[in-house]
Amino acid sequence: MTDFASLYRQKLTTAGELAGRVENGWLLGMDAAAAQTPAIMEALAERAAAGGLSGVRVQTLLDVYPFAFYADNSLFGKLTGESWFSSAGARNAINGGYADFIPAYYRDIPRHIRAHYDYDAFCVSVSPMDKHGYFSLSTASSYSVAMMEKAKRIFVEVNEHQPRAVCGTQVHVSQVDAIVEYHHELPVLPPAKLDEVSVTIGNLIAERIPDGACIQLGIGAIPDATGMALKTKHDLGIHTEMFTDSMVELIECGAVNNSKKQIHRGQSITTFAYGSKRIYDYIDDNPAIALMPVDYVNDPEVICRNDNMISINAALEVDLWGQVCAESVGTKHMSGSGGQIDYVRGACQSKGGKSFIAFTSTAKGGTISKIKPILTPGAVCTTSKNDVDYVVTEYGVAHLRGHSLSDRARQLIAIAHPDFRDELRFEAKKRGILI
Ligand code: COA
Repeated sequence: MTDFASLYRQKLTTAGELAGRVENGWLLGMDAAAAQTPAIMEALAERAAAGGLSGVRVQTLLDVYPFAFYADNSLFGKLTGESWFSSAGARNAINGGYADFIPAYYRDIPRHIRAHYDYDAFCVSVSPMDKHGYFSLSTASSYSVAMMEKAKRIFVEVNEHQPRAVCGTQVHVSQVDAIVEYHHELPVLPPAKLDEVSVTIGNLIAERIPDGACIQLGIGAIPDATGMALKTKHDLGIHTEMFTDSMVELIECGAVNNSKKQIHRGQSITTFAYGSKRIYDYIDDNPAIALMPVDYVNDPEVICRNDNMISINAALEVDLWGQVCAESVGTKHMSGSGGQIDYVRGACQSKGGKSFIAFTSTAKGGTISKIKPILTPGAVCTTSKNDVDYVVTEYGVAHLRGHSLSDRARQLIAIAHPDFRDELRFEAKKRGILI
């Protein structure tokens, strides 16, 4: 039998030594959130800052570490970030003009990787090697398989705090080129603030979700609040792109048991997990959750196979046509499409399915209405008028799919903040939308 431990020792190195192997012009890739490799990236940034690197690019999705290539614009051109979906670091760097953004539906990222990119190395944080020589890719399986296929080398960062996802992507020590050990608590997403408005929105959505439904919750405060409002439901299932704290809560309180799902009965399905330590503990050695590639998990044709599929996602603004912007404030980049459209489409194709786009009616202390006559110039349309289904604010629920423009406008104005309704009505009439 192969001595995996000695193979491990042969490949073990330090982050500094590994950074020294990286050559000018290399393309590196990482998967989502806690699967990213902070020690390798920090060593690379030190080398780049000292003038030792040029033209190295790093792809991320939902950056959760304070990566220097996003924090420090002096690294631009030496070590440059490219984001498939941005958190605060990538957002600032993209808006600052020293990092790039790759627009994509989340489900299509593996396809784009296979078609357009060749990686010099795929970098991934993993749990300690098991007795068979496998490392678990732990918290993300989204496009790791595609990146590994297209990468000349695989660099793993072993962290004993990473859970072992038994139903997730694995990589064998024989496939790996270098191993760095860096044991540290995983990054945590601060829990959403459950204020009165988000609780109201959560309850409005929960009223429309039947027992036995299968749910997806997007990123942001409102999807989180909705999750908490589902605790009184029964026999719910989970098929989602991001596994969140509120989902663990729903499993532990018994509201979710996955017993009514048409596919993957008895199992929660996700493509990555990000939240508190509670999530990581839940994943560890747990066959009740499967982390699978995003080209499968987020495929609308797969999503719709569960009846009563419910998707709940946030937005930054919606116009009277029902066009949803969830990724920019005007021209200012905020995130990416993620899987919003994948789930809007999948849910709407499911028997009994519904898709909810939910947000507080105003932003910036009540000074801005998120329901607008037209999208702010430069705003990105994430979900189109043809795909949108339900839109929810603390003032109620609008059902837009299949409805006329005039009916949409009337319904949306009714759920806008009262301070903005007259203005919206005026603008709608001026444009001939309200007839
Ligand atoms: N005009 C101006 N500013 C606005 C605004 C508007 N219409 N709407 C929100 N903002 C501001 C908020 O005030 C807040 O500013 P702050 O950071 O200074 O407080 C910021 O934008 C974020 O708004 P918030 O409503 O708190 O966002 P969130 O954390 O709930 O996230 C999205 C909302 C839309 C950014 C998030 O859901 C997302 O990234 N979606 C991507 C698409 C998606 O849904 N994918 C599927 C799931 S991954």
